[in-house]
Amino acid sequence: MKLLLLGPPGAGKGTQAKLLMDKNNIPQISTGDILRAAVKHSTPLGKRAKEYMDKGALVPDDVVVGLIRERLKEDDVRNGYILDGFPRTIPQAEALSRITDIDYVINLKVPDEDLIFRLSGRRTCEKCGEVFHVKFNRPKVENICDKCGGKLFQRKDDDEEIIKKRLEAYHKQTNPLAGYYRKNKKLIEIDGTKNPKDIFNSILKVINPEAIS
Ligand code: AP5
Repeated sequence: MKLLLLGPPGAGKGTQAKLLMDKNNIPQISTGDILRAAVKHSTPLGKRAKEYMDKGALVPDDVVVGLIRERLKEDDVRNGYILDGFPRTIPQAEALSRITDIDYVINLKVPDEDLIFRLSGRRTCEKCGEVFHVKFNRPKVENICDKCGGKLFQRKDDDEEIIKKRLEAYHKQTNPLAGYYRKNKKLIEIDGTKNPKDIFNSILKVINPEAIS
């Protein structure tokens, strides 16, 4: 099964992708994670991407399309995958349609005021990438990952001013994708304001009704 998760920064794409990955045994492909790893290792791609990411802007289409094209050639995607954070512009969606066909496009809808609160309180494990929140999803021990014991950190782009820029980029460049996929009859709108488990069950109801727990 090939799934695509759409939605603004902080809508819960990463949170739902991890639940879906565990349930369906297919990999999560997050362009944000791939780009952050490249930045961390100061690769040529990372150096180029950093300029944009630090400002809350989107990385140029040719860079991310090339990256996805390569990623989708790997062995682990044979039984499907979950795209998280790609595509983010109409040209990216058009490029994807030339590479493959997606089964479901899930659009998580959350108002901007909730997103700022979610993102400014997010904490991420530096080792395994598990995501927490200082209020909604606190780790058992402060700043330590429940899953692997790694240290939690705050993403650089989760600063309030940069979050506002990311939201601007979303409304201008990514939101039009909902119309694009609605036209293709692929779009499933999900209320992303409920708790993560209820959202997960709403997604399963559409993609795999027998799997709801
Ligand atoms: P990326 O890493 O993709 O960031 P994003 O889209 O801004 O999304 P986030 O990871 O911030 O949020 P999320 O929706 O995954 O939410 P999460 O589950 O973590 O991209 C970063 C940057 O990389 C971009 O700005 C851009 O520069 C570049 N980039 C990436 N892809 C690109 C592309 N295709 N083209 C061009 N540039 C690209 O949840 C957030 C918080 O909320 C957490 O703390 C979580 O615990 C909490 N939470 C989750 N669900 C709920 C809930 N239901 N209720 C309450 N709290 C919740």
